[in-house]
Amino acid sequence: MNSSAHSPVLITGGAGYIGSHAMLALLDQGRAAVVVDNLSTGRRGAVPDSVPFYEGNVDDGGLIAKIIGEHGCRDVMHFAGSIIVPESVEKPLDYYQNNVVRSAQLLRACLDSGIERFVFSSTAAVYDGDGAGQRPLAEDAVLAPANPYGRSKLMTEWMLRDVAAATGLRVAVLRYFNVAGADGAGRSGQYSKVTSHLIKRACQTVLGIQPHIDVFGDDYATPDGTCVRDYIHVTDLAWAHVAVLNHLQENAGTVTMNCGYGHGYSVTQVLDVVDQAAAEMLGAGPMLRRPGPRRQGDAASLVAETSRIRQTLNWQPKHDDLKVIAASALAWEKRLMDGTD
Ligand SMILES: NC(=O)c1ccc[n+]([C@@H]2O[C@H](COP(=O)([O-])OP(=O)(O)OC[C@H]3O[C@@H](n4cnc5c(N)ncnc54)[C@H](O)[C@@H]3O)[C@@H](O)[C@H]2O)c1
Repeated sequence: MNSSAHSPVLITGGAGYIGSHAMLALLDQGRAAVVVDNLSTGRRGAVPDSVPFYEGNVDDGGLIAKIIGEHGCRDVMHFAGSIIVPESVEKPLDYYQNNVVRSAQLLRACLDSGIERFVFSSTAAVYDGDGAGQRPLAEDAVLAPANPYGRSKLMTEWMLRDVAAATGLRVAVLRYFNVAGADGAGRSGQYSKVTSHLIKRACQTVLGIQPHIDVFGDDYATPDGTCVRDYIHVTDLAWAHVAVLNHLQENAGTVTMNCGYGHGYSVTQVLDVVDQAAAEMLGAGPMLRRPGPRRQGDAASLVAETSRIRQTLNWQPKHDDLKVIAASALAWEKRLMDGTD
């Protein structure tokens, strides 16, 4: 590796859920990090005092140039963005602004300041969910996002590919499936109260923060009729970021990789596992499930084909166990409720 492998990684959105876990993974590996975050959904406390923190927007070119110049960064992990699908349907321009326009501004500043490698948080929402059927989705599956959030991410993917081709910037596009769980040592987790993520909402429900959990549709073509998703532990995802940065160190060009485990669980299975974790950890009874109609835009099954990430990065997930994911998410949610974090 060359000397830039020792320069701090600039993490946008590092005060948020996934960015803070990637930061921890880098620190655990002995690499340094610098965080820029506007704290719109992130928490200042997610970034330890040892990590330089800059409060600001990713489209503030002056700030980005100053950070890169002062710290000698050559690598960027770009997590900052807006992530709530229903909100993107109501406020599409906000999503195109924050996810696409601001990413373009960030990229410009990065290129002007000598950034060599760029890792981007994309999503399974770029795929044609309706056409997915029961098959795992490979990276070359049909791309047809069903909402402005997914489209904003796909537009940014395209922009990155064009920029990489024109400039030699090395780019990794990581398409996350359903990210869940929390750091095993309790150092970070998902702070934001407002969420559409099933496991977080289920944990909020068993803790009494939510009165019930909605189950959107039970007549899908899946084994129990509820939607199937591929849940990936946030710590395994964080380590994929460290690994892909090492890959970019050695390899030019652009890589696109799914981040999931390659198998899915239904909504019913997830809720059963969270109930079980709550019974064991808190002695709590089962949560109240409220069956409802299908939600527009929900595909029956979204599961990642994962051979590319496993082979290219030799990525070996350590937390591929729904019980472990649910238990860590519940422990984190309880800490938040008790105010210990
Ligand atoms: N959570 C998931 O399941 C999931 C799935 C697929 C993709 N993603 C992607 O992963 C990334 C991180 O998601 P997350 O779950 O950690 O969300 P998050 O809301 O916890 O983190 C996003 C962070 O970015 C910051 N931010 C937002 N806009 C900013 C801006 N313009 N300038 C500076 N900071 C800004 C927020 O304050 C927050 O700290 C997002 O890009 C999201 O689209 C997440």
